[in-house]
Formats: sequence, structure tokens, C-alpha cells
Amino acid sequence: MMQKALITGASSGIGHELAKIMAAKGHDLVLVSRDQKKLNQVRQEILQNYKVEVEIIAQDLSEAGAASNLHDKLKDKGIEILVNNAGIGLVGDFFDTDPKGTATMMRLNIEALTEMTHFFGGDFVKKGQGRILNIGSIAAFFPGPKQPVYYASKAFVRSFGRALAYNLRSSGVTATTLHPGVTKTNFFNAAQASNISKGASPYKVALHGYNAMMAGKAETTYGWWNRFLTNIFVRVTPYKLQPYIVDKASEV
Ligand SMILES: NC(=O)c1ccc[n+]([C@@H]2O[C@H](COP(=O)([O-])OP(=O)(O)OC[C@H]3O[C@@H](n4cnc5c(N)ncnc54)[C@H](OP(=O)(O)O)[C@@H]3O)[C@@H](O)[C@H]2O)c1
Repeated sequence: MMQKALITGASSGIGHELAKIMAAKGHDLVLVSRDQKKLNQVRQEILQNYKVEVEIIAQDLSEAGAASNLHDKLKDKGIEILVNNAGIGLVGDFFDTDPKGTATMMRLNIEALTEMTHFFGGDFVKKGQGRILNIGSIAAFFPGPKQPVYYASKAFVRSFGRALAYNLRSSGVTATTLHPGVTKTNFFNAAQASNISKGASPYKVALHGYNAMMAGKAETTYGWWNRFLTNIFVRVTPYKLQPYIVDKASEV
């Protein structure tokens, strides 16, 4: 019997792929995002192909109290895996971007992820079993002048996840942080960036994250180039030069 999983941001991109991968492995699913219609399409797609149960909940996770509402609805439903995947970017000069957009991003990328972990992870700890997968980014490893708050939000996810994995080490619960590099999803459109045509397959990124979570790894980066950037580039490049290089190298 595979553990039941709650996946946020399951209506597109990496979260959608994770939902399909986990359904194929036999996990029952609860899928969350804002768009009920898209979630319903994902549900139908999964039900046509796999023998699992799929519940969908349309919820804006950037709203105050969202995680607690979801937990109230789901706390007795036997969820044993939490995937905090929903996240957004916001491209542009910090002082030119709308502070409301920045606040929404911080609420989704940081607060909702933290609160979801608190509520659902707390249940896992009481039961002595469960898995948490947080989606970080290679952006967690250096400052990003073209998306300063997004990069900082992912640095939070990384630091939080490392400490969490350590604190949970003998609890029966694992916490894994997946760091994708550029991936072909709707992310850059949603972040008001120009269209990015290159990038990794969201299926491959999702599968890498799923396997790392099931293996109980604390942290994993997808792809050899991204592993070079996050393991070697950050160590050999002078600290002061890093913002300059990231600025010049990143399209957005
Ligand atoms: N794509 C990349 O290059 C890349 C690189 C590194 C890390 N990541 C991370 O990967 C994760 C998934 O992103 P993606 O690339 O798959 O992008 P995506 O295709 O845009 O998917 C984002 C998902 O989050 C949901 N979402 C957005 N705002 C939400 C809100 N307020 N409340 C609830 N759900 C919300 C969206 O669904 P609705 O619109 O239906 O709400 C969608 O399902 C994010 O955490 C992102 O930071 C992406």
C-alpha cells in the first residue's frame, strides 16, 4: 500500500508531472492549486490511466490561513507525503515591481510552505512516519539581481529544509529539498518574464525529486550542469563577483 500524497501546484509543470509519476507508483493523491478547472483535467487524466484515488482542492495558498484551512479539511484523510511544490517567480528591478506581487510571492514560496510543513509534518512526526518534499531551486545558492526576492525565497526553502532534515533524522519522517535548474514549464510566463524556450523536461526533474524523496535524501539538485553551479561555481567564484556573474548569465 503506497502512502497517500498531497501535492501543491499540481495543475501544471513539475507538480503535474509529480502527480502522474506518483499515481503510476500507486499513491492516492490530493491535488491543490488555484485553478479548479485545470485540476479537474489533471484528475481526469490520472483516473483514465491509473488505479488511484484523486481528490482536488482549489485553494489560493498565498491567502492567510490557507494551510490551516487545508489541514482542517484533510487531517483525517491519512496523508503521509507532503509535496510543497507551488511557487512563483517575479522578474524585474526590485523597486519597479509591485510590492503586492512581491508579498504574494513571499507568502506562497515561504509562508505557505512553512505552514504546510508545520501542520502536515507535525502529524507525520506524531505518527512517526511520513515524507516531505520541498521544491527549492538552484536560485537558492546565489543572489539573483534580476529576481532578488525569488532567489532569496528559495534560499529560505533550502536553509529551512536542511535544518528540517537534520531535526527529523531519527523521527521516522524525512525532508527532502529538490533544486531544479531552468525547466520547461509555465513558470517564466507566470513570472512576467520573456518566454524561455530551453530548459529541462519537467518529467525528468519530477522523477529525480520523487526518487530522492523516497530514498530519504536531504537535498538534491537536478542535472550535472546545475550540480556544477551549486557545488563548484559557488565555491570557486569570489563572493563579491557572484551577483555580477549571475546577472550577466541569466536571461531572467
Ligand atoms: N521552471 C523552472 O525553471 C523552475 C526552476 C527552479 C525551481 N522551480 C520551482 O518549481 C516549482 C513548480 O514550478 P513550475 O516550474 O512547475 O511552474 P508552473 O508550471 O507555473 O507551476 C506552478 C504551480 O503552482 C500553482 N500555483 C501558483 N500560485 C499558486 C497559489 N497562489 N496557490 C496555489 N497554487 C499556486 C500553479 O497552479 P494554479 O495556477 O492553478 O494556481 C501551478 O500548478 C516552483 O516552486 C518553482 O519555484 C521552477
